[in-house]
Amino acid sequence: MKPRLLRLVPLFFVILSLFLSVSSTQFRGSDRAHSQRPLRDRAIQSDSWGIPDKDGGRGTRSAALAFDEATALLRKIRPASAPWWNFKKSGVLGTSAYYAKELFFLLFMNGPPQHDLLTTDPHPKKLGHSLSQAVKLLEEAAADKNPDAMFTLAEMNFYGNYTHPRNYSEAFRRYHELATLNGNASAQYMVGFMYATGIGGAVKQDQARALLYHTLAAEGGDIRSEMTVAYRYSSAIATPRNCEDAVYYYKSVADKAIKYTRSGPPGGHTLPRESYRIADEEGGIYGEGASVSSSGPNARHGSVVSDAYSSLDDVVEYMDLQARKGDLRASFNLAKLNYDGARSSQRNLPEAKKRFLEIARMYWTKDGKTKPNVSASTAKLASKAAGYLGRMFLRGEGMPQSFAIAKTWFTRGIEHGDALSQYSMGLMYLNNLGVPKDPVKAADFFGAAADQDLPPAQVRLGALFLDQGDVQTALKYFDLAARHGHLEAYYYLAELTRYGVGKDKSCPVASAYYKIVAEKAEAISTSFPEANDAYNDGDLETALVGYMMAAEQGFEVGQANVAYLLDQAKTRVTLSSLIPFMKRKAALASDAFLALIYWTRSAEQKNVDSMVKLGDYYLQGLGTSPDQEKAAACYQAAMEEVPPSAQAMWNLGWMHENGIGIEQDFHLAKRHYDLALETNPREAYLPVVLALYKLRFRSWWNTVTHGNVKSIQEEPVIKKDWSLSEWLAAFLEAEIAGWDNLEPDDYEETHMPGGDDDYGYDDIDSEILESLVILALTGVLAFLVYYRGQRQRRQEERRRQQQQQQQQQQQQQNQGQAPAGQPQQQNQQPQQPEDRGMFPHPNDPEFMNWAAGAIGH
Ligand SMILES: *[C@@H]1O[C@H](CO)[C@@H](O)[C@H](O)[C@H]1NC(C)=O
Ligand SMILES: *[C@@H]1O[C@H](CO)[C@@H](O)[C@H](O)[C@H]1NC(C)=O
Ligand SMILES: *[C@@H]1O[C@H](CO)[C@@H](O)[C@H](O)[C@H]1NC(C)=O
Ligand SMILES: *[C@@H]1O[C@H](CO)[C@@H](O)[C@H](O)[C@H]1NC(C)=O
Repeated sequence: MKPRLLRLVPLFFVILSLFLSVSSTQFRGSDRAHSQRPLRDRAIQSDSWGIPDKDGGRGTRSAALAFDEATALLRKIRPASAPWWNFKKSGVLGTSAYYAKELFFLLFMNGPPQHDLLTTDPHPKKLGHSLSQAVKLLEEAAADKNPDAMFTLAEMNFYGNYTHPRNYSEAFRRYHELATLNGNASAQYMVGFMYATGIGGAVKQDQARALLYHTLAAEGGDIRSEMTVAYRYSSAIATPRNCEDAVYYYKSVADKAIKYTRSGPPGGHTLPRESYRIADEEGGIYGEGASVSSSGPNARHGSVVSDAYSSLDDVVEYMDLQARKGDLRASFNLAKLNYDGARSSQRNLPEAKKRFLEIARMYWTKDGKTKPNVSASTAKLASKAAGYLGRMFLRGEGMPQSFAIAKTWFTRGIEHGDALSQYSMGLMYLNNLGVPKDPVKAADFFGAAADQDLPPAQVRLGALFLDQGDVQTALKYFDLAARHGHLEAYYYLAELTRYGVGKDKSCPVASAYYKIVAEKAEAISTSFPEANDAYNDGDLETALVGYMMAAEQGFEVGQANVAYLLDQAKTRVTLSSLIPFMKRKAALASDAFLALIYWTRSAEQKNVDSMVKLGDYYLQGLGTSPDQEKAAACYQAAMEEVPPSAQAMWNLGWMHENGIGIEQDFHLAKRHYDLALETNPREAYLPVVLALYKLRFRSWWNTVTHGNVKSIQEEPVIKKDWSLSEWLAAFLEAEIAGWDNLEPDDYEETHMPGGDDDYGYDDIDSEILESLVILALTGVLAFLVYYRGQRQRRQEERRRQQQQQQQQQQQQQNQGQAPAGQPQQQNQQPQQPEDRGMFPHPNDPEFMNWAAGAIGH
């Protein structure tokens, strides 16, 4: 690393691009006129044949014709490209371009036109000529009750297809019209979704109607509605918990998922994972280290392929270099990466084939002979490559399908005990692919591969045992495969659990298994890919809508993403927060109430960071009334998860220290701070050490002044009669060694939980720090002396007030007007019922919990 140089590079680009943008402003006007001309030409062209027929024939036939005409017009409209000011903030160049843009707007303009998220633009831009013509045609057809036209109009208003401005009210009207016209499940789903989220203010949130429409759509076979309904029943969202119903709908989706995978080439469709937490790109909700997501079960998984995807290019470059140097492992990994694809790199089958073949050729010559004098490790890798080559031939991936060639490669791989070759050969025998059907041989091959812990082989073997009626052995193999998250394994486990075959019958467990299956088949039910693309292009609205749909379907990742996008509690000081217009955008984008709902749902699904976030929301009263006890409960829950959240421990320590939400107790506070340090020694060190200093001081003060808070126990009591300088010396002595990395921000009392610890400066001189510390401590001391005086005065005042009150009460009692209603009301404090059968009133505080799902069950 050469940090100094790297830091200078963006600066250089900023200056350069600033210069470029200034010098090019004068050309921009003419540019734009130029780029618009082709569009207009096209419109004129279509004019000549785009006039609706004037015979006034109002039958369905002419409506259909009008629809076709409109479609032809629409097809010619270029999809709206991302506005030029939205580009990715990645890499040195991207970053510098990004900041150059920010700077440019800051200096020369009032910012790009910011469109409010999830609202209907009150002043939509005029439609282009061909678009307005198409809309006119569609509206005519829709008036004639043409369902296709209605649907297209609705979609255009909802998604903004074909550059049509969004109007959520209009979209809702159209969807609703279509849903009532012919019970179209897609339209019913959309109506349900809009009722559930109240998106864009098109319609008032109404969970009961949402469930109704989703149920109708689910009966009509809409997968997204099925998942939504199942999720609502299983999490008790706006309906009583009902496991049987949840299983019914989840199973329907799982069946479709299995059908989809099995419809693929031999071995099944691959199901690429598209659901990513966008927060992960920034190190998690709380930034690197403070978030659990960068280390927890929710974490990105630790392989070259997915782990460091932000720097995947670097990894690839490095591997490429190694491969060129003749490192066969690197070469093989690259080939695998090309074959599997990863988040930031598409599958590249020809390239994969080339690489695999190179490796295989190291051992096998063209005519199938083995080369002499090849090391064992090379032979091993070559056999693995053979397995992949065979698989590609078997499935016809990147080359024409050929069972014969596939079999040749598998035979070679099997010689060296390659698991993939064994499994694939088993598949050929099982399914009569190029070889005569022979289940016994197939089982042998599967067994060999299963012993090497290859999940698909374990599943196939388990299924064969299940056919034979050997449920226990089958279960063993399914369990093994499920460890690797294999979809079909979960499906079998779900089925067996549901009917209690070989396992205890359990509806909740079956429901959980089915949910996993349903959510693994992202391809059939989600809009994650579109949402991810939109997010990367800076189109937040499309991204938000896509994630929101997934969130409603019960995807934890979707919920976390929506909440993250809507989050209000971001107090991170970044460049963007310094720029006024960016702040405005953040405020518009956020809707604390919705964010709270999705944090809640995500937390319910065991996202530890979301639990902490939920605590922050309750603490600060965002989207709800402040409730310190609930906040403490949230932090407590996050602390007890595995892995625990250091941030939650820290927050709890802070609450103990200040007696917020829980009893003030310096001893417990210290324990929590220590725990936070233990959990996350690297990132938590600085805040914890600082907090401990402050805490020790307060504890000492408490002891000295005989306060009524429990002080830290193990600490020796510092004598009172020290002079200030003596005391400071002793105080600083204790852990002076660890003070090298401090930054001044951390002294501030405002260092609240929920804020992100953004350590910008790391090379502050320790000497300066020491003097700063001394200064700060002196200040604190002075303040405390003052504070003690204040407190005494306040206590006196309180005593006086109490006396007055007592007198008043006595007077009241004498008058016989004791306030009778009060104690009763307190008793009525609702204990949350397990199931809420009734719909709470939207203004009822309970309503929030009800809409978000059961909390704390
Ligand atoms: C709903 O209607 C649209 C337009 O007619 C059609 O494309 C879509 O397939 C329909 N959906 C279902 C589930 O029938
Ligand atoms: C409109 O765009 C959305 C999202 O990109 C897409 O899912 C939908 O199919 C499109 N609808 C039409 C009618 O093109
Ligand atoms: C959106 O559609 C509604 C009717 O569906 C209409 O009243 C309203 O004016 C439209 N808004 C805009 C900005 O076009
Ligand atoms: C194989 O290796 C041995 C020793 O490393 C060497 O003597 C022999 O000539 C090699 N044979 C071939 C065919 O390269």
